[in-house]
Amino acid sequence: MSLGNNERKMLRLMLSKPSSKWNLEDLLKGTGWTDQVHVAGAGGYLNELGFVDITENKSSTVSLGPEGLKSVELGLLESRLWEWLLSIDPEHRTMKSLLDSDFERHESGPGVGILKGLGVSIEKGVFTTEDESTVTSIIKSRTSFLNTVSQEGCDLSSLDDELVRHFSSRKGLIQIEENTIRHWILTDSGKAVQTSDIEEVELIGEITPELLQSENWRGAKFKPFDVNAPAPTPTGGRPHPMQSLIERIRAVFLEMGFSEIEGDYVQSAGWNMDALYIPQSHPARTMQDTFYLSNPEKIDIDKKYLDLWANVHENGHDTGSKGWGLGFDKEESKKALLRTHTTVNTVRHIANNPDIASRVFGIGRVFRQETIDRTHLPEFHQIEGIIHEPNANLPMLISTLKTFYAKMGYPDVRVRPAYFPYTEPSVEVDILWRGEWLELGGAGIFRPEVTEPLGTEWPVCAWGMGLERLAMLVLDLDDIRQLYQPDLERLRKMPLI
Ligand code: PHE
Repeated sequence: MSLGNNERKMLRLMLSKPSSKWNLEDLLKGTGWTDQVHVAGAGGYLNELGFVDITENKSSTVSLGPEGLKSVELGLLESRLWEWLLSIDPEHRTMKSLLDSDFERHESGPGVGILKGLGVSIEKGVFTTEDESTVTSIIKSRTSFLNTVSQEGCDLSSLDDELVRHFSSRKGLIQIEENTIRHWILTDSGKAVQTSDIEEVELIGEITPELLQSENWRGAKFKPFDVNAPAPTPTGGRPHPMQSLIERIRAVFLEMGFSEIEGDYVQSAGWNMDALYIPQSHPARTMQDTFYLSNPEKIDIDKKYLDLWANVHENGHDTGSKGWGLGFDKEESKKALLRTHTTVNTVRHIANNPDIASRVFGIGRVFRQETIDRTHLPEFHQIEGIIHEPNANLPMLISTLKTFYAKMGYPDVRVRPAYFPYTEPSVEVDILWRGEWLELGGAGIFRPEVTEPLGTEWPVCAWGMGLERLAMLVLDLDDIRQLYQPDLERLRKMPLI
């Protein structure tokens, strides 16, 4: 019989009283084991072989929590309060005298709440109740409940449900612990095993040089290896899922013929906003939404652009637009900030290459003053891109985005009309995911108020998409924070991208 020594030992013990129902304690005592894993392991294997039945009974034990212990010693809060109330004349049972009494604030507040729950009301500052004896008897039953529980190992089923519910709702009074009680019983085939078949044998588990040098290995029994035994899963390194996703997006755009551009986190308000024809009074430009810097506080901008933007914003310049008709403050343009979108990169790319047709993309971090929650972070990433060429147009923009998302595994894309100060027409881009349309970004054709100061005459298709939103879909997460928590266990299990 291929039983290990533990199984042999346990079986032999059980055969000494074949009809007995064995509990953990007796098995430990009988085998001399100190650790119950041996019982669980050997018992489990004997059970698998059909020699032993295991029964499990779940029970719950109620014991006192820290507040409960205190209450048993000093008396329940309501009990002490009630006694105190009864000890003074009815007309002096006031809130005021309670506050003047020895009860401390942290007791009197909750205590009054508990008394109210017992039918005591406060009328014109005086505690009154119609039925003192009921209050007294409820308090008595609560007190005796706690006294019962204070006897160690009180079984949940022996206690009054309602009082258990009551004390469970109060902090620290009682605690309920679930436990499982197991019994091991020999089956008929277990009883039929001959003790002589299950003598303990010396099994060799490890082959050592000493063993090989001696002659003891001859005729010895070797412990079989169980290749199916649970073992830790080896984990190697892997790229962070966000990094893999970025690599994949990069590969898709490169494959579609785009080149990659980059830019700095620190930008001027001029390039981040004025170049995009965002009016200087726009609410998103305030400190509440944008991180402005104190070092550097200002960044120089080529005067040529400052003049052009001032003109465009004030009166439209040569763009055919009337502009915002508002004043333009060039000092405001120089303010340094952390870029709020990566559109600043594509705009600067056009300014540097106004005569060169280009299809470029960039994936970069952006910063906004957001309160962190399930769907918002103050730092996140955008996937930005432009098509800047003589025949750029809206259908070209939409089909490019559709191709991109289809390659990422989301073939259903739709656009809806939207508004951005810097594009016309403007669209919002949604993808279909598990039957729902989810918004992933914005896009449009840059307005002449944007392109003219940059020095280009061609239309520009532009888009900016949220990377984290896409990552949440790809990785099936419902909380954006999970992407950046250093929880190696969870990161390891995230799908490969
Ligand atoms: N910059 C916009 C955003 O941050 C997205 C966008 C980019 C919209 C380009 C239109 C054109 O949401």
